[in-house]
Amino acid sequence: MIVAPKIRGFICTTAHPDGCAANVCSQIDYVKSRGPLPHSPKKVLVVGASTGYGLASRIVPAFGGGAATVGVFFEKPGTESKTGSAGWYNSVAFEEAAAEAGFYARSFNGDAFSKEMKEAVVAAIREDLGQVDCVVYSLASPRRTDPESGEVYKSVLKPIGAAYSQKNLNTDTAEVNSVTIEPANEEEIAHTVKVMGGEDWELWIEALADAGAMAEGFTTVAYSYIGPDLTYPIYTNGTIGRAKEHLEESAARINGRFGPGSAWVSVNKALVTQASSAIPVVPLYISLLYKVMKEKGLHEGCIEQIQRLFADHLASGGAPALDGRGRIRIDDWEMREDVQAEVAAAWETVATESLSEISDFAGYKSEFLRLFGFGLEGLDYGAETNPERELPSAQERSDHGG
Ligand code: NAI
Repeated sequence: MIVAPKIRGFICTTAHPDGCAANVCSQIDYVKSRGPLPHSPKKVLVVGASTGYGLASRIVPAFGGGAATVGVFFEKPGTESKTGSAGWYNSVAFEEAAAEAGFYARSFNGDAFSKEMKEAVVAAIREDLGQVDCVVYSLASPRRTDPESGEVYKSVLKPIGAAYSQKNLNTDTAEVNSVTIEPANEEEIAHTVKVMGGEDWELWIEALADAGAMAEGFTTVAYSYIGPDLTYPIYTNGTIGRAKEHLEESAARINGRFGPGSAWVSVNKALVTQASSAIPVVPLYISLLYKVMKEKGLHEGCIEQIQRLFADHLASGGAPALDGRGRIRIDDWEMREDVQAEVAAAWETVATESLSEISDFAGYKSEFLRLFGFGLEGLDYGAETNPERELPSAQERSDHGG
């Protein structure tokens, strides 16, 4: 079929298999261009491995460090007549490239919050790799079914305490308007912490450790965000910020059980991903930020961020550099004073008429489309392509009756 983008609000309901593959290949090429990471972990589990930061966290240790990787994600395979999700095609492309390079890669598609998924992944690790020495936790989900009670929790993106009014960008119409978001109630706060906090991260580490699947001296990392004052009410001081506080408490608990230096929280840069495009106000901030950071030669995407995370912190051969609260900060360039001062000044003046001049909304849009495999150079988007693609690891297992 011929695949074209179909955008509905902040999601694109189609994905281009070859475009996603080209995206993955360019990330792999970038990692290879940075040279080997001799201190990289060698057996890595990535939970949330198919898009955004998690996909980059699978590519860097594999193609920089030669690591065997296990990836967990929740994606939709394509059928003959309907495209799958971008994360599905990304994972197929990743596995194909890994196989070609001779790296072990196995993927699990399903609900990472469930007990069944943890059991299946732990069993596969025991069988194929024995143990893992690194676990990256990069889930972003709007809901979670509690594995014990079966209760479904839904996360919300709301301020706490008072309503929040701020400039906002309608990414469909390119209009800068204003948005007012009413504060969350206690139940919404608790639900968001249940979904996006660290409880499930801890359950993963416990399940792996209890089965003897964690190597001595393992590390695990989960991702957080802080950002500027202007998004504090909706992010850091809002419901998602509460969940991120819980993530830090989880890191402390994991370190309490397994020793200091086992668990890290890395604060990453604001980037266009499927998760971040759903947050009010953030797309306008990102559009302004990209303009400033590109002009200063400081812009990074997920792959550059995670390459730096491994090269400078997790796989540097020494201890990671930390802030006063024990977190890794790869948002350091975003948070530089000169960058933030320029973004804040642009924020004051930005309006619909000046959007294209003051911000990099064009960059935002093209990066959003790229997430779904559209707008990549050298691809013939008018050509027929097959939306049905199989994961090589699943194919191989079914060929062997496994
Ligand atoms: P994303 O939407 O690109 O990726 C989410 C991943 O989670 C995908 O692999 C998806 O398949 C997987 N997933 C979702 N629900 C699942 C489930 N029930 N079971 C299994 N897999 C599931 O998100 P992104 O932006 O890469 O976020 C990852 C982490 O990074 C999040 O914790 C986010 O808060 C954090 N972060 C994101 C920033 C951004 O600007 N995008 C900035 C700083 C931190």
